[in-house]
Amino acid sequence: MSFTPPRRYWLTGAGNGIGASLAEEILKSGAHLAVSSRSVAPLKVLSQRYPGQVLVVAGDLTNSQTVREIGEQIAEEWGALDTVILNAGTCEYVDVQQFDASIVEHVVRTNLLASSFCIQAALPLLRAGTAPYLVGVASSVTYLPLPRSEAHGTSKPGLRYLFESSRIDLAPDGIEVTVVSPGFVETPLTAQNSPTPLGWPVDKAARHIFAELKDRPLEIAFPALFMADLWPLSKPPHRANLAIGKRMVRSNPPIKDQP
Ligand SMILES: NC(=O)c1ccc[n+]([C@@H]2O[C@H](COP(=O)([O-])OP(=O)(O)OC[C@H]3O[C@@H](n4cnc5c(N)ncnc54)[C@H](OP(=O)(O)O)[C@@H]3O)[C@@H](O)[C@H]2O)c1
Repeated sequence: MSFTPPRRYWLTGAGNGIGASLAEEILKSGAHLAVSSRSVAPLKVLSQRYPGQVLVVAGDLTNSQTVREIGEQIAEEWGALDTVILNAGTCEYVDVQQFDASIVEHVVRTNLLASSFCIQAALPLLRAGTAPYLVGVASSVTYLPLPRSEAHGTSKPGLRYLFESSRIDLAPDGIEVTVVSPGFVETPLTAQNSPTPLGWPVDKAARHIFAELKDRPLEIAFPALFMADLWPLSKPPHRANLAIGKRMVRSNPPIKDQP
């Protein structure tokens, strides 16, 4: 009987939210998983729950040297990667009345630049892997300009382009690329938003992503109902999109101390 070695994954943002639930799905499949986030504690818990399957490679992915060292650690332990899922990210809203460019800088650094550092570290390992696969978690925010999303909405279209452009250039190497575009998923990141009726619980989202990854589609966009609402909204001309965006702006909160 032939033995198929376990698939070797690297998942970023595995400490919380979508990444933490996706890590469970991957580990339940028997695969080996390298996990990253700045917080070490949740990654250590995973490695205790799935002994022999988890490689903890924690660190701040906005630091290119840290990411290089993570790549070296994975190379030393495994020599190759088969699937890389770049999921780590953040969302901070901008208040244009006190426009703070440092928010844009931080969000772009976390969502876009860190992913490019990870791609640089991952590619030599993927080239040594089996049926190599690169996955990036973008967002449905890339379809339509939304209010207060000057930072998040700048980073994610850049991330989408990074993956879609890489898809073309990596095809000759046999590395396939998928972009994941979540709408709303209930995680610590979205706890700051008002409740979203079309949002999905995080475990459901992770099961869906993991199941879809098996077919290696170009894009995994969900929840379907949310996409069915959003996608047509993204198609009208710019002037109509502007009108839609303006309707979504929330009025300022009341000033409590006014006499
Ligand atoms: N939830 C949604 O509705 C939704 C919608 C669209 C897109 N997304 C995207 O889906 C991805 C996951 O989102 P989520 O909702 O699961 O967020 P989350 O619960 O806040 O988890 C984000 C993960 O990324 C890690 N991370 C953040 N900054 C990092 C850094 N500098 N270095 C290393 N790790 C870092 C966090 O760990 P540490 O803080 O410990 O570093 C955490 O594990 C993100 O890319 C997000 O933009 C989510």
